Amino acid sequence: MRVISILPFLLVLVSGSIENYEHPIDIIHNAVNELHSLDAATDLNECITCKTRLQIGKFLALTRPDLVPQIFTIWCLEAGNDETQCHMNYGYPSLEYSSIGNDFTKVVSLMDPEGLDGDLFCYYHDDKCHILPETPELDLSNLWPPKPKVYEAPQNSGETFNVLHISDINLQLNYKLLTEANCSQSVCCSEHSYNYFKPPESYDYSPIHNPSNGLSFYDSSYTHGHFEKGQYVDLYSNENSVWSPCHEFGSYTCETPLLLLNNTLHTIRNFHQNHLQFEMAIFTGGTVEHQDRIFIDKHHILKTQEVVYKLLKTYLPSIPIIGTFGIRDTFPINQLPPKNLIENSVSYQWEFDFLADLWLELDWIDLDASKQIRYSHTGFSIITSRGLKIISLNSNVWNDKNLYNFWNVHSIDKFGIWKFLIDELLESEVNEQRVWIISHLPPSSRSLPLPAKVLTLIIGRFSPKVIAAIFFGSNLKDSFNLIYGGDGCDSKELEKAINFALIGPSISPYSGVNPAWRYYAIDEKSFNIVNSFTYNIELNETFINGGAEPSWQFEYSARELYDPEGLWPMERSLDTEWWYHATEKIRDMPNMSELYSRLAYRSSPFTPLGDDLVDNDNYCIVTSFTVEARKQCMMTEDQDNYIAPAEPIDYFAYIKPYAPVEYVGYGGEEESAEPENSEIPNDEVAETTEEEVKPQVKPQKVLRGNGRSLSQKVQV
Ligand SMILES: *[C@@H]1O[C@H](CO)[C@@H](O)[C@H](O)[C@H]1NC(C)=O
Ligand SMILES: *[C@@H]1O[C@H](CO)[C@@H](O)[C@H](O)[C@H]1NC(C)=O
Ligand SMILES: *[C@@H]1O[C@H](CO)[C@@H](O)[C@H](O)[C@H]1NC(C)=O
Ligand SMILES: *[C@@H]1O[C@H](CO)[C@@H](O)[C@H](O)[C@H]1NC(C)=O
Repeated sequence: MRVISILPFLLVLVSGSIENYEHPIDIIHNAVNELHSLDAATDLNECITCKTRLQIGKFLALTRPDLVPQIFTIWCLEAGNDETQCHMNYGYPSLEYSSIGNDFTKVVSLMDPEGLDGDLFCYYHDDKCHILPETPELDLSNLWPPKPKVYEAPQNSGETFNVLHISDINLQLNYKLLTEANCSQSVCCSEHSYNYFKPPESYDYSPIHNPSNGLSFYDSSYTHGHFEKGQYVDLYSNENSVWSPCHEFGSYTCETPLLLLNNTLHTIRNFHQNHLQFEMAIFTGGTVEHQDRIFIDKHHILKTQEVVYKLLKTYLPSIPIIGTFGIRDTFPINQLPPKNLIENSVSYQWEFDFLADLWLELDWIDLDASKQIRYSHTGFSIITSRGLKIISLNSNVWNDKNLYNFWNVHSIDKFGIWKFLIDELLESEVNEQRVWIISHLPPSSRSLPLPAKVLTLIIGRFSPKVIAAIFFGSNLKDSFNLIYGGDGCDSKELEKAINFALIGPSISPYSGVNPAWRYYAIDEKSFNIVNSFTYNIELNETFINGGAEPSWQFEYSARELYDPEGLWPMERSLDTEWWYHATEKIRDMPNMSELYSRLAYRSSPFTPLGDDLVDNDNYCIVTSFTVEARKQCMMTEDQDNYIAPAEPIDYFAYIKPYAPVEYVGYGGEEESAEPENSEIPNDEVAETTEEEVKPQVKPQKVLRGNGRSLSQKVQV
């Protein structure tokens, strides 16, 4: 049946192209028409429409790959989609902005549109197709010797040392004081941030104008190694009128300004020197901010990484920092071709050469690891001076925004990453060595089901004896996942829990969280986590404190917070069973679930509480390591078709409407009379997922560089 419904379109195209098409212009014209008539066909369901479109794309990509970006861009625009998204998703490659038309062309030429490749692509990349295909059963047991019957984690020694964990720095190099924080773009606080609606003439700026009101708009810095409060910057020196001017230490709609990063690293250094003595650090990735793709060029990606890594070294020269690959720290963002697609892979080589050289130069990795990064693109391992092995994995291998993940889905190890991981783990098993795994994107969010399943099976095989801990970042929220056996969907009993993963909080306040970092007390012998201690600032305090330095405060210790009565024996580390009990409390005690939300957001003003705190959601978040497990957890009897909210590649502002900032210290009239009802066009869908929000806003964007305007037809 499926074949019959697809055939007519292809036949028209094939016969047409052979007989008639001479000029590229004809091919383009006819192909675009094919795509439109496909959209118009009412007898196809949405997933079939999408898959047929891929078949047309494949045919074109095999015959005229040079025309594919143009054809799909035109079709996308004419179909009424957002212009920026069309150009970024299908447009020709450019060093000026992060468009992926080249990658799309390559992948569509290789993929099997009718099989699992097409099913998955359409589920993840077509917002009308909601059928998540069954994940094939996997048996990996031929990849390793059978798991020994006795496979216990080693005993703790009782002595600990400290390891720093930082994540998601997301430095915003173009952060600018007094620009718009209440903007209609993805990330605010830069020269190109603006609000669709200008503030009314009568908008009262007088409180901002007057430094004695205590509002913080100071041009401060750590240029000479210590905090220097700068001049008060008058809003009237800024030409544009804005609703909500950005303060110097950051804003909840923006990523990390250099000043905040300096402040954070300065603080960490003080803690380190005074009493905490971090022996090493893990950085679970994220240097580049969530800017719209039109504002991301290759130079920017390199520059941001260089600034971040060198600053880390400047502030923490004596602490080895083991990093991992950020999903956006590459260009185009989120993309990673397997090595065997040589021509494509080569065009991404610069990123790995860059990291391999830089981390070696900063003395964080040895020559072997540097070579691994350069040659594998997907992972490396390091053995610390105490003998712990840290394996760092490139999570673009499972990122659903990496188009290459939709080619040859059945071939589970086309990146070679699993062989690498298994070999490393087997070696450690033989050597009685313990291992930590670090990566950026947790498989529980925005990840393809199959690689998530493979990773879960590997973790199951090597836990608890070999794998002592697993760390991720990327979510910005402070969180953790309990990992269940089998394919991650085993029933949620203690016996089925195989390990756990900790998801580090971000330094960036983007998405409405307070900046945070933490450290772990690690057992010297077993490398188990004995406790974790998280620190944060209240960013909103820096809006009104007259330009003072933010004060970092101790937020919580996991052991005390989830076990206030101290029932867990001190000599036991925070192991899988311990985290299992924490999930039970989140499930059973409403105040614990609320507490979890507060931790996730570090008690920012955007913490979802009360009605926003969906009953079962936190429990599903912490007990689902894979997207499938999450889906299974979220399904209820009366709602058996849970659809994970689709997420765009571009990131849209998702604190909307902008919560009113409470300015204190002046008796001005109520200038924020209408803050609740943002009149942002088409803004009806703003469901917050764990990370992002579905875009309904169609912003007008202008491409930099070549002067071409992307946006004549803006949908408002
Ligand atoms: C941040 O710190 C670096 C290194 O000390 C310094 O060069 C830079 O000027 C500082 N910038 C700000 C805004 O504090
Ligand atoms: C949460 O509620 C339980 C009773 O349901 C109570 O025993 C416990 O002290 C509360 N915990 C906190 C942190 O408020
Ligand atoms: C910052 O926000 C939190 C959470 O809404 C609030 O409790 C706190 O009072 C605020 N701080 C300031 C200084 O406004
Ligand atoms: C943010 O902008 C909207 C218009 O887009 C406006 O209605 C709202 O009052 C503004 N809020 C603040 C706090 O500036």
